Amino acid sequence: MEKSYLQLLENNKAWVVQQKYNDPDFFKRLTLGQSPQYLWIGCSDSRVPASQITGTRPGEMFDHRNIANMVVHSDMSMLSVLSYAVEILKVKHIIVCGHYGCGGVLAAMSNKQYGLIDNWLRHIKDVYRYHHAELDAIADEEERGRRFVELNVIEQVHDLRKTSIVQNAWKNEQPLHIHGWVYDVKDGIIKDLGTTFTCAKDLHTVYQFD
Ligand code: CO
Repeated sequence: MEKSYLQLLENNKAWVVQQKYNDPDFFKRLTLGQSPQYLWIGCSDSRVPASQITGTRPGEMFDHRNIANMVVHSDMSMLSVLSYAVEILKVKHIIVCGHYGCGGVLAAMSNKQYGLIDNWLRHIKDVYRYHHAELDAIADEEERGRRFVELNVIEQVHDLRKTSIVQNAWKNEQPLHIHGWVYDVKDGIIKDLGTTFTCAKDLHTVYQFD
């Protein structure tokens, strides 16, 4: 039997020792509860570990990951995470972070069948349909893929701000900012797409369920 997984348990023991050495009250403090400021909605891709690439520590970021960092309105798992993060934990920032070279997004660009996942990719294909004029005009396939990744994040940010959870938070003047970012697997840099939405005061249109 392949036993490489045992290494993970060894790593865990070493990590515990290190944490206690750096900060003797680390675990005691976390036992008291969590009050993260951030909700991360990212891709499941193993190359994009949310806390590692943002330098956040346990207790600082609540996160939800799925294939291609999607905000799907009928996804109970995503909605439950969002509701808990916004209504109970009162996070101040929601970050939708995609990544260049995302297998889910690139698969949605092709006409191949992948099985069950095609049903999930359907949502991403819709994003292509909304932006096909811009995307089809990009001759280079890699460039087109990169832009598609960005547009997918922007669409998820819009879908997020249209959820009743976010709308209600803004209606109650709860401070809540939504950001769209893309991580580059090539160099580790995160790009801010500049699609930040803050609150109803700044953007009167956010109340509309457009
Ligand atoms: Co991905």
